[in-house]
Amino acid sequence: MKRILITGAAGQIGTELASRLRDRYGPGMILPTDIRDPVSWASLGPAERLDCLDLDALRTVVRRFGATDIFHLAAILSAAAEESPLRAYQINMDGLVNVLQVAAETGCRVFTPSSIAAFGPETPSDPAPQSTLQRPTTMYGVTKVAGELLCDYYHARFGVDARGLRFPGLVSYTAPPGGGTTDYAVDIFHAALERGRYTCFLKPDTRMDMMYMPDAIRAIIELMEAPAASLVHRNAFNVTAMHFTPAELANAIRVHMPGFEIDYDPDPVRQAIADSWPERLDDSEAREQWGWRHEYELPDMVADMFRGLRAILAPETAATAGR
Ligand code: SER
Repeated sequence: MKRILITGAAGQIGTELASRLRDRYGPGMILPTDIRDPVSWASLGPAERLDCLDLDALRTVVRRFGATDIFHLAAILSAAAEESPLRAYQINMDGLVNVLQVAAETGCRVFTPSSIAAFGPETPSDPAPQSTLQRPTTMYGVTKVAGELLCDYYHARFGVDARGLRFPGLVSYTAPPGGGTTDYAVDIFHAALERGRYTCFLKPDTRMDMMYMPDAIRAIIELMEAPAASLVHRNAFNVTAMHFTPAELANAIRVHMPGFEIDYDPDPVRQAIADSWPERLDDSEAREQWGWRHEYELPDMVADMFRGLRAILAPETAATAGR
């Protein structure tokens, strides 16, 4: 029987993952936690405030809940990490090592996301292989590579079943991302519906990997349910779905909103981050080892984003959006 504790559960992935895991394993089997007070984010069942930098508190909550799995999502994303590199290092590294340490003590399994950011400018860009030169140039990327190695270490040294995925940019409408370089691909939908136009902080031809959130949530669940014997890599699997540029996304949006306008005012920090990442990941190992398969392509994702956002935005905004 699974009992899953989630850290960073109020974030972009955690909000949707908690809901899907509750449906799959039962509401009482999932404990979403976040450093933010649950009053502000948890409406659908038990949840706790937990700072994963506090090792004793983490150990206590994991033991009291009787967790079998920890899904560790708490992290600072790429652009925010460049604003506060030391803080990002502390949160991303100390949080993960605490989770792995408690997992080693309690026998929990661990899921934690890595990222396209684990690659750097010397990595082959199209595609970036599963096993290749990494050497990222951002603090976020440094913590992601180190995190991948830490997971390998805790597996080899203490037998912790730590698994992970290198996610591309994730697009969703339920909870906003924050402080990421790929966030433009979410911001653009909000701007389209609110103003019919968007000023992009990346150049029009900046190509990056992306994935729609339902595929990402399914990838997490499928990886964690895959038999260990089928996994050669276990940790840090490349996974991807789409590869598009801001200009291509804008064109896909115009299918639904012909008057949509975009202009470009590249932010040097985020442009440099994006330029240091690969254009496309080779995710054939994930496809072969545990059957990864994405469902959403760009047109499906755009249609579903408009459907989802219109449903949650004020009716007045939704009604005027297509004009
Ligand atoms: N979405 C992340 C970011 O932009 C990359 O994993 O920072």
